[in-house]
Amino acid sequence: MSHTLYPLKRQRLQRSELAVPASNPAMIDKAALGPADYVFLDLEDAVAPPEKEQARRNCIQALNDIDWAARGKTVSVRINGLDTHYMYRDVVDVMEQAGSRVHTLLVPKVGVPGDLYMVEAMVNQIEMAKGFTTRVGLEALIETALGMANVEAIAQFGGRLEALHFGVADFAASMRARTTNIGGLNPDYPGDQWHAAIARMVTACRAYGLRPIDGPFGDFSDPEGYRAGARRAAALGCEGKWAIHPSQVSLANEVFSPTEAEVTRARRIIEELRAAEAQGKGAASLDGKMIDAASERMARNVLVIAEAISGR
Ligand code: GLV
Ligand code: MG
Repeated sequence: MSHTLYPLKRQRLQRSELAVPASNPAMIDKAALGPADYVFLDLEDAVAPPEKEQARRNCIQALNDIDWAARGKTVSVRINGLDTHYMYRDVVDVMEQAGSRVHTLLVPKVGVPGDLYMVEAMVNQIEMAKGFTTRVGLEALIETALGMANVEAIAQFGGRLEALHFGVADFAASMRARTTNIGGLNPDYPGDQWHAAIARMVTACRAYGLRPIDGPFGDFSDPEGYRAGARRAAALGCEGKWAIHPSQVSLANEVFSPTEAEVTRARRIIEELRAAEAQGKGAASLDGKMIDAASERMARNVLVIAEAISGR
């Protein structure tokens, strides 16, 4: 390893991330009872401009009325973008009125590290002024060409930043990619047209100790398409994926949970390596395959997630 290390800043179970428009209180109540690891109350793109203020009030009420942590969930609020006139009031009202109840703020369309600086400065002041002893985290959506061009700099922001999300819909729009599909594969492209972008974001996250999360898949009547997208994201290192419909939550939980067989193999790798070590060897073999210290690091990643799931 390098002498420079960026350990994971904050471990949170985030296999499934349910997006809920804060304009719809019935959907918020349902989300609180469902199996999502993580729910974000949306003030941004799922809320029409005339509903923004009511959505903000609903969001504050849901944070204060529902004990999300007791339900084993992380609750986040997606604020509006810094280019709107809603954003400052989203931060001020949500933080002043429910800042000790919300776990993270999700900042959309982050383009440069300074976007996070502004949100961080505001929440620092509000937490101090209100005397909160809790500390809200920040998560950033990478969903514009500018954000992706700066993703390594954004990942190095530090402060409260703990996760990056790939917002495929806005990213497609920003790139003028030839599609109107949210997250599906384009048959004109030989492979996954989002591969390079997701891989770049995951690398930036893992380099600087952040959780990488894959974004939405719009066709909620295509569970197999969702599963396939989630598996591709998991293969690249994402910890979870958005659900834009409650039916996608269990699919994400399934794909991002290690199977019994994976957990058993991870444990056996560690046992075999301990036995090899006792004989002065660094490498060993398991089921006809070479294993070494790197295998142990991969195995420990599996076990960390398995433990987080069982401790939920
Ligand atoms: C999410 O916000 C997206 O644009 O995909
Ligand atoms: Mg978006």
